[in-house]
Amino acid sequence: MNITILGTGYVGLVTGACLADLGNNIVCIDSNLKKINHLKNLKIPFYEPGLEEIILRNVKSSRISFSSSYKKISSSELIFLCIDTPRGPNGKPNLSNLYSAIDDIGSNLTSSAIVVLKSTVPLGTNKKVLQRLEKILRNDEKNFTVEVCANPEFLKEGSAVTDFLRPERIVIGADSNDVFQIMRSLYKPLNRKSNKIIEMSVESAELTKYASNAFLATKISFINQIARIAEISEANIHDIRRGIGSDSRIGKDFLYAGLGYGGSCFPKDIKALIETGKSFGLDSSLLQAVEQINSSMTRHLEKKVKNFYKSSLKNKTIMVWGLSFKPNTDDTRDSVAIKFINNISTKVKCLYVFDPVVEKIPDSIQNKKNIFCLKHKYQKISECDALIICTEWKEFWNPDIDFIAKLNDKVIFDGRNILDYELMESYGIKYFGIGVGRS
Ligand code: UDX
Repeated sequence: MNITILGTGYVGLVTGACLADLGNNIVCIDSNLKKINHLKNLKIPFYEPGLEEIILRNVKSSRISFSSSYKKISSSELIFLCIDTPRGPNGKPNLSNLYSAIDDIGSNLTSSAIVVLKSTVPLGTNKKVLQRLEKILRNDEKNFTVEVCANPEFLKEGSAVTDFLRPERIVIGADSNDVFQIMRSLYKPLNRKSNKIIEMSVESAELTKYASNAFLATKISFINQIARIAEISEANIHDIRRGIGSDSRIGKDFLYAGLGYGGSCFPKDIKALIETGKSFGLDSSLLQAVEQINSSMTRHLEKKVKNFYKSSLKNKTIMVWGLSFKPNTDDTRDSVAIKFINNISTKVKCLYVFDPVVEKIPDSIQNKKNIFCLKHKYQKISECDALIICTEWKEFWNPDIDFIAKLNDKVIFDGRNILDYELMESYGIKYFGIGVGRS
């Protein structure tokens, strides 16, 4: 099939590259010329395991190309909208980029096409997109039809390529059998072993995406709340997680206590769902609690640091491991590591930070005067008083004790619960986790 992908962020590039790998002809369009020029020179704008390899392979076989011109849309049967919908000031997603892309589609289309929305959009957006497109076609006296399809993405950064090529489910929301049929044939190569396609209305598909993210975020806030109770009762959150997760009705995933969720999806989507509830006069207290627990977690860790030092922190030099919102990505958007660093940097003398992939202090860190990025995780360790872990990169899981013992105060605050409490204490390292360790 001839397919256009609009937007070359995580979702757009992964979708484009993987659909090219399935044998389709893909044009990726982005209005950011600089980004497109980089892509033409085969420079991938972010770190995502496996993506570069797929793009190189498909550029070689001429199945994927990059352009900033919307004219390329004209010959496409499918147009995937992978435009970012950032959080607006009122908590609602900002759809101005998305609607401006819709206007460009409308004015450049020369024959029938299906517009597929991958972006996470507020309820009712698919219908509004269709009405807007139909109006443009009518005004331009174009004699063909467009249809819309809601096909939300469930890609996790860091494993997005695998998630796309081995999906657990493919949600397709549409109002016509033709659309279902075309989408079924598009995804056929991913649907051989068992039927992963779930067909529904566009409204149900829109809400499925929000409900998935809200449920996962709820699991995280739930385990974080239990972790706080575990701290008071001297229970161990690792044991509790195993104890409850082995019940298949609960499941083992997304029960890791820590600093909480961040990233470009969960915080924005939970807020958007709360706002949707509000606009319909519905009670969203469960989601509000999820959000409130999540935002308390960085302060909770900070309190542990303050309690340990009792007096002031202002003479302390602290090492922080992790900047990205989770491992295997260089994405620092809404990263709780950044939030934590922003808060604590105003209270300490100096912060040394290390992340295996993020090499520069992100712009989102406001107070940069006393924050320094390191090239190696043990660099400067003997000048530091304490270590704080904010992101669970694999290389942090088994630190070299000879280096850790060089921390002046021999203390670790593990915001991701990745180290072994008993082991650390056996080496004389004081260990504080979330729901585990000293309280
Ligand atoms: C998420 C959804 O998982 C994906 O389906 C959707 O399409 C986009 O949003 P992503 O934001 O890439 O994906 O990250 P994810 O792996 O889901 O983690 C989100 C956040 O939750 C991270 O900050 C992570 O550290 C945190 N998390 C995850 C926990 O704190 N505990 C857990 O047990 C799991």
